[in-house]
Amino acid sequence: MKKITSKELRKKWLDFYKSKGHEDIGSVSLIGDGETGVMFNVAGMQSLMPYLLGKKEHEKGKRLCNVQGCVRTVDIDNVGDETHLTFFEMMGNWSIGDYFKKEKTKWSFELLTKEFGLDPDKICATVFAGNEKVPRDDETAKLLEEVGVKKENIFFLNDNWWNLEGTVGTPCGPDNEWFYPKHDNKCCDTCDINCPCDRYVEIGNDVYMQFEQLGNGEYRELKQKNVDTGFGFERNLAILSGTTDCYMTDLFEKAISEIESFCGIKYGQDEETTKAMRIVCDHIRTSVMLIGDVKGILPSNVGAGYILRRLLRRAIRYIRKLGGNVELIEKIALSYIDDVYAEAYPLLGEKRDYIISEIKKEVTKFEKTLEQGMKEFEKLISNLKTFAPDVKTIAGQKAFRLFDTFGFPIELTIELAKENGYDVDVEGFNKAFENHQEQSRTASAGVFKGGLAERNETTAHLHTATHLLLASLKKILSDDIHQCGSNITPERLRFDFNFERKVLPEELKKIEDEVNKNINSAIEVVCEEMTLEDARKSGATGIFDNKYGEKVTVYTIGDVSKEICGGPHAKNTKDLGKFKIVKEESCGAGLRRIKAILE
Ligand code: ALA
Repeated sequence: MKKITSKELRKKWLDFYKSKGHEDIGSVSLIGDGETGVMFNVAGMQSLMPYLLGKKEHEKGKRLCNVQGCVRTVDIDNVGDETHLTFFEMMGNWSIGDYFKKEKTKWSFELLTKEFGLDPDKICATVFAGNEKVPRDDETAKLLEEVGVKKENIFFLNDNWWNLEGTVGTPCGPDNEWFYPKHDNKCCDTCDINCPCDRYVEIGNDVYMQFEQLGNGEYRELKQKNVDTGFGFERNLAILSGTTDCYMTDLFEKAISEIESFCGIKYGQDEETTKAMRIVCDHIRTSVMLIGDVKGILPSNVGAGYILRRLLRRAIRYIRKLGGNVELIEKIALSYIDDVYAEAYPLLGEKRDYIISEIKKEVTKFEKTLEQGMKEFEKLISNLKTFAPDVKTIAGQKAFRLFDTFGFPIELTIELAKENGYDVDVEGFNKAFENHQEQSRTASAGVFKGGLAERNETTAHLHTATHLLLASLKKILSDDIHQCGSNITPERLRFDFNFERKVLPEELKKIEDEVNKNINSAIEVVCEEMTLEDARKSGATGIFDNKYGEKVTVYTIGDVSKEICGGPHAKNTKDLGKFKIVKEESCGAGLRRIKAILE
């Protein structure tokens, strides 16, 4: 076997398939396209769906290849062992209705043996055993034997079938998976790819995509036969680096040595430390990739942003366990940006400062409350132990308090609970979450999601900016305008309102200027509690719904705005910085949406 570096492997894959007439199509964003409903890109084929289904012709032809970044977070809790990763790359190549099994079996074997130098006698392959709808794939098995895979190393399995999970109308088909042993020590006489000892690692997958998934286990034959290949970059690299541990490859070398020297520890010194180091290396790498992506995201409390927040906050907790801090997190992030991925992901270099500053922001945000939250958590456990030794479940309300007050993602509480031998009442947490959201929705004249965990400065500023924006819209466009929806993330505000046509650029400019004028006038934001009746009388706007009690909070900004709202708000408009509208668009009949930021 040859030793190969990550840079060499990337090149080798692409060069090999280019020599077989393939075009490198490069990689697409890690963030899902919204069409399949998949949050992240989980496989190289995801962006090629219309071509595989025969609906479109690819501009680069019928033979394509690339190395595609993927994010799979279902296994996030398993990260910490040798092979689980939340970000990984998939080396792919495709035949879009061009060549089929004959060429593919030949090339895969040629690459593994000639280019990677793997022992042909040890390579194993699995093929589809067949079911009532699709017959056993004897053709592939025969071809595998012909190209040089030993007959006894070919296995027929029922689950050799690949499709994009849970999606209908997508291409699928039987697959031929490739396996290689991590070492030669058989655990028993029958130790083969089916053995639970995990001696064999799956290194690649050639899918013969010739069906369309219709749901309920039904398929329709496609008009063209495709090949969809995916070989795990990190797994192959590990084997080609003479290890079974993905974290011992050159991808993580710098990151690990940064941790070692900063914390005075050694990778592999004990299980707990090693696990923590892997979690930190993995989660920071994925975070860098997600923030630095073409469709880059930021930590938030919803969707993909929430996953990113979970990853970062988990990394922060583990780095603290190891004795590291934000400075070390920066060093680790830079090992990926400046070194490992500088060539393959040049955008990371361009977004270098932005990525680092956003990571630091999230660290600061979390660290502010982490210590207090941990104390609260420990108190909770110690109280349970003392006063309710039989109770082994943390109440949903308590978990919600940790989330709401200390920014603990529920998964973090579950993980901490588990470490202490406790469960969490997740259903109770969800109920508390929904109740709170309902109340804050009613009280705040809009869906201020930020009211939950982001009661921090930025959110407060954006809430105040939202009130100023509504006031300006009334003044510049029409007094009839009212709020139809609002959503605030730590990065921006989004405001929906009734208006029949597109807002013209010059009007947007005036609206923006009006908000900034009010910001610069340094107006005090006054918060008062009063009965709904009094609020109405005082001329406050907002949703008048007394379901949750009579008293409401009214925020008054000079004579500019008076609204019923749950807050939080800035104390003075001068704290807001500069208001900027970044987008204006339709969001339904007679509805417009504005997205704006504070700089
Ligand atoms: N799409 C196939 C996979 O992800 C190649 O395994």
